[in-house]
Amino acid sequence: MGRLLSSEPQNEDESFVSIRPLSLDEYIGQENVKERLSVAIRAAKMRGEVLDHVLLAGPPGLGKTTLATIIAHETGGKLHTTSGPVIERQGDLAAVLTSLASGDVLFIDEIHRLPHAVEEVLYSAMEDYKLDILVGKGPGARTVRLSVNPFTLVGATTRSGLLTPPLRNRFGMVLELDFYKIEELKNIVKRSAKILGVKIDNTCASEIAKRSRGTPRVANRLLKRIRDFATVKSKDEITLEIVDEAFESMKIDKYGLDETDRKILKRIAHDYRGGPVGLNSLAASVGMEAETISEVYEPYLLQGGFVARTSRGRVLTAKGYSAIGESLISTENFEFGSDS
Ligand SMILES: Nc1ncnc2c1ncn2[C@@H]1O[C@H](COP(=O)(O)OP(=O)(O)O)[C@@H](O)[C@H]1O
Ligand SMILES: [Mg+2]
Repeated sequence: MGRLLSSEPQNEDESFVSIRPLSLDEYIGQENVKERLSVAIRAAKMRGEVLDHVLLAGPPGLGKTTLATIIAHETGGKLHTTSGPVIERQGDLAAVLTSLASGDVLFIDEIHRLPHAVEEVLYSAMEDYKLDILVGKGPGARTVRLSVNPFTLVGATTRSGLLTPPLRNRFGMVLELDFYKIEELKNIVKRSAKILGVKIDNTCASEIAKRSRGTPRVANRLLKRIRDFATVKSKDEITLEIVDEAFESMKIDKYGLDETDRKILKRIAHDYRGGPVGLNSLAASVGMEAETISEVYEPYLLQGGFVARTSRGRVLTAKGYSAIGESLISTENFEFGSDS
């Protein structure tokens, strides 16, 4: 079973398509990104050109795939979707590129995972819509130059720093997405609730927003779970009572932390007296893969200010202590490993 608070896409999210905003106007937050995109799209239209290539960078669940869909919708181009690891050979990329009509949008998710040889072919396609493909093997091999129609490449990556500089430099626009503010998440929850046909007031929407880890995907998922609680009570409205009961049962606290998050914080507090502790030692204490901690749990613990990173390792902050019901000072007397 997937983790409820995970910002990674899960199967169930697919049924959320109707909730995905289709235009820039419906897309909530990320004002700077929207502004830049909107100007670029309008300018390209006025000049009768295709939109320049766009790189979208940001943690999972912040709206990259949604933006790619919106770009196609707003430019009027057809959207073709693929991802870095899927394009294994130069020929795969050539097949995709030569199938594009003028003005189409090619969305490559996880573009940082494109194989090197494929990435090199992409350079000239992005620059002057030409493809140099090596055909054959050994001494008989030769390069064939193919033309592709003018298109817009939209690449998505979790961090723009993961891209090689030559690839990054070929994007006309690099748009970095930030975690969302509570107010924005609240509006996303209200919008989604409307589409799902369930009533929710500002207070309840804001309670969900606060626990959404700055991430629309998490906000929508929590809303769906809470709607389940309302449904089984035969209510078409989400009340504060239902919200409280749902979070209680999901064991999600007021900060949006679940049991695993709290376990990580407790291990730092009790096994390492608040740190600093290195990632590998912490992973051993918690009994998890170091990579899972650093990719799945830590981003929000850091961003939310529960844990801080120092040159000597992770340390628990005052907020981190309060999340596990302890305080920085009293831990001196805390009995070693007294929790379970
Ligand atoms: N700005 C936004 N406004 C409203 N809903 C959003 C916004 N950004 C993302 N969402 C919703 O959040 C979910 C995850 O977005 P998605 O584009 O799949 O994220 P990513 O591709 O960055 O992982 C989708 O259900 C989408 O509808
Ligand atoms: Mg995506």
